[in-house]
Amino acid sequence: MSVQTVQTTPIEGQKPGTSGLRKKTAVFMESGYLENYTQAIFDGIGGVEGKTLVVGGDGRYFNDVAIGTILRMAAANGAAKCIVGQGGLLSTPAASHLIRKWKADGGLILSASHNPGGPNADFGLKYNGPNGGPATEGVTEKIFARTQEIDSYRILDGGEVDLGVLGESSLGDMQIEIVDPVADYAELMGELFDFGAISALFTGGFRMCFDAMHAVTGPYAHEILENRLGAPAGTVMNGAPSPDFGGGHPDPNPVWAKALMDIMYADDAPDFGAASDGDGDRNMIVGAHCYVSPSDSLALLADKADLAPGYAGGLAGVARSMPTSAAADRVAEAKGMASFETPTGWKFFGNLLDAGTVTLCGEESAGTGSNHVREKDGLWAVLLWLNILAKTGKSVSELMADHWATYGRNYYSRHDYEAVDSGAANDLIANLRARLGDLAGHTVGDLTVSGADEFSYDDPVDGSTSSGQGIRIYFEGGGRVVFRLSGTGTDGATLRVYLEQLETDAGALGKDPQEALAGIIAAADALAEIKVRTGRDGPDVIT
Ligand code: G1P
Ligand code: ZN
Repeated sequence: MSVQTVQTTPIEGQKPGTSGLRKKTAVFMESGYLENYTQAIFDGIGGVEGKTLVVGGDGRYFNDVAIGTILRMAAANGAAKCIVGQGGLLSTPAASHLIRKWKADGGLILSASHNPGGPNADFGLKYNGPNGGPATEGVTEKIFARTQEIDSYRILDGGEVDLGVLGESSLGDMQIEIVDPVADYAELMGELFDFGAISALFTGGFRMCFDAMHAVTGPYAHEILENRLGAPAGTVMNGAPSPDFGGGHPDPNPVWAKALMDIMYADDAPDFGAASDGDGDRNMIVGAHCYVSPSDSLALLADKADLAPGYAGGLAGVARSMPTSAAADRVAEAKGMASFETPTGWKFFGNLLDAGTVTLCGEESAGTGSNHVREKDGLWAVLLWLNILAKTGKSVSELMADHWATYGRNYYSRHDYEAVDSGAANDLIANLRARLGDLAGHTVGDLTVSGADEFSYDDPVDGSTSSGQGIRIYFEGGGRVVFRLSGTGTDGATLRVYLEQLETDAGALGKDPQEALAGIIAAADALAEIKVRTGRDGPDVIT
């Protein structure tokens, strides 16, 4: 085996988004594509000589082949060691935990998250830093800069690693350790949560259904929920990871996890339902006949996290991404905790978590997490809910009703317009941006605009500024609409419209969100001319 230096030229479009580089699988499989980007990561982080990296992915098509290439490149670039999940599997939060636990210099996670997998679907690769979190903006820029000037990459001209065999081996001069992807993570969960109380819940006949969506959380959920907590076999559905996620869309929301929603809204619904996405960082929570929006879930967890041993001392603060509803802010205010509003994407939470200013974080896109890792964590959120259910003895719907009665309800929905013409989508945003100064006082239907701006974030920890993070329009009476373009789509542009209305009237807390938001929805269309500009009658996905 010898190190080869292969001459190459920059490939257009290797610009990482909110969570690394995502492209069609076929693009990643083109000759030199993965190699160029991997070398750009290595160069962008200042080389990997002597470093230890964690490597794993969500098991989607091309995962194992890509890991083989990455390992041969890491060895050729002088890395000291790679810690790899058995079978090439590691959920995103488990990878984050391994980086932290073994004090690795970073990690490469192969995933396109909740996007479908397979030869005709999506693939992705992201770099996480030594704190276990997604690359900072600065590092991301360096990686992108390298993609534009790369002229060679280094790779071993041979060498196979059997990803199925646990234990240590070597590849060239590099050490490889294949680890059980679940064990360390499961142990951490056992430290944070009251497994005794949750086990007692299951012994008492509590019924749960967890949908792993044919993705990476299957093995984690089987081990933690069924083996360690004693939930009956069959609690986990779709628990075997498959390269194309069973042909589905591993995104835990009421649209893509419809099978679970049907179970949870049936006459004999179990007490608790949950799902996670392709790489295990997202979660959906649903009680019997009671879907919990991610924004509400964050608020409830912020209110009651101290019922779990890992958070018994209370929370330092809570952070949410800007488009997430203000429900968590209301809890923070009532409890005297700090609260933060950050741009979309988990990387902005990392600094706040590292500085100890916040303990819990969350996004409206079904991501919730805490300072235990530096990624959002699907199963962690499910276990915290189980801990709260066990300690309060209440049902999901009782907990939510109590929560809204105490704090008011932030009705919330997100409307997505997918694969929109990029020019039209950019024009829509540019048109709103140009009118921001004129919108206040403007009336649309029954609503009056109270203010409008474009979100820009000054990071309180590192002093950096991130601008252009979404157009916000506020209405008198506690309503808000946010417009932003997705940074993770792989097909044209995705316009996201985030709708919110605060309700504090005790008699009006039980409405259907689309009905409660009808005025805001109409105002959003009128202000941004969504239908006319996108040529669509309505959103493709409503969550
Ligand atoms: C989406 C979500 C965002 C999340 C990201 C990665 O990004 O909206 O909250 O952090 O996926 O999971 P977007 O496509 O909106 O840029
Ligand atoms: Zn994900």
